[in-house]
Amino acid sequence: MVSVKLLSLAALVGAAVAQNTTALRYMPFGDSITEITCWRSKLWDKLQGTDYANTNFVGSGKNENNCRNTKYDRDNEGHSGFLAINIANNKQLVGWLQRNPADVITMHLGTNDIVQQNKPVNQIIAAFTTLVQVMRDSNPKMKIVVAQIIPMGMGNFNAKIQALNQAITPWAQAQNTTESPVWVVDQYTGYSGSADNRDGIHPNAGGDDKMVNIWYPALLGAFQAARADQVAAAAEAAAAERRVMPFMA
Ligand SMILES: *[C@@H]1O[C@H](CO)[C@@H](O)[C@H](O)[C@H]1NC(C)=O
Ligand SMILES: *[C@@H]1O[C@H](CO)[C@@H](O)[C@H](O)[C@H]1NC(C)=O
Repeated sequence: MVSVKLLSLAALVGAAVAQNTTALRYMPFGDSITEITCWRSKLWDKLQGTDYANTNFVGSGKNENNCRNTKYDRDNEGHSGFLAINIANNKQLVGWLQRNPADVITMHLGTNDIVQQNKPVNQIIAAFTTLVQVMRDSNPKMKIVVAQIIPMGMGNFNAKIQALNQAITPWAQAQNTTESPVWVVDQYTGYSGSADNRDGIHPNAGGDDKMVNIWYPALLGAFQAARADQVAAAAEAAAAERRVMPFMA
C-alpha cells in the first residue's frame, strides 16, 4: 500500500514539475523598425489572454514611438541606424544575448545595409548566418523568426529589398534545424511603403498593425516550441529525481 501511495505521489510531483514552466524570454531584435515603433506594444497586447501573456520581452533598450501603452514590456534589442553587417562584424549580438538571454528572437534587419550603404545582398545574408550562429551559441534551442523586411516609401530601394527578401527563404531553409527552427515571415507583401509608413521608413499605426498580424502566428509557433522544450526538460529533471530516489519508483 505504501509503495502505491509513493508511486502516485511521484507521478503527481512529476506532473507538477512538468507544468512548472517559467515565462518565456523573447528578444525583439533589429534596427529602428524594431526600436522606435509600436508593433511591440501591440504584440504584447495581443498576447494577453493567451498562454504566453507572461512572456518576458528582453533586450537592453526601452525606446518606442510614444505608443501610449503603460502596461507593455518595452525591453527590446532594436538599434536605430544599425546595419546587420556591422552588428555581425562587431560581434555586438554576443554581448546583447549574454546580458539578456532569450528563448525566442525575431529579426527584422537589412534596411540600413541597403538604404545607407547599398551593401550587396550576399553580404547581408552572410551577416545573417553569423547572427544565427551567435543566437545558437547563446542558446542551442533558440527559436528564430526572421522577417522578409518591409518596403520603403522613399528613395529607390525596393528592388534591392525584394532581392534580399527573395534570398532570405532559401537561406533560412538551409539554416533550419529541429532543435532551433528558423521561420520566415513576409513583412513585405501587402505592406505599402508610402501608406503604411509614417515617414517612408517606419510604420505608422496601420503599419504596426500589419507587422503584428504577420509576426503573431509565427511567434505563437515559436513560443509553443520553446514551451515544449521547457516541459521536456522538466519531465527529464523529474525522471532523474526519481532515479536518485528509487524507493519512490
Ligand atoms: C517551480 O519552479 C520554482 C522556480 O524555479 C521552484 O522554486 C519550485 O520548486 C518549482 N516547483 C516544482 C513543483 O518543481
Ligand atoms: C523550419 O522548420 C519548421 C519545422 O520545424 C518549419 O515550420 C519551417 O517552415 C521551416 N523553415 C523554413 C524556412 O523552411
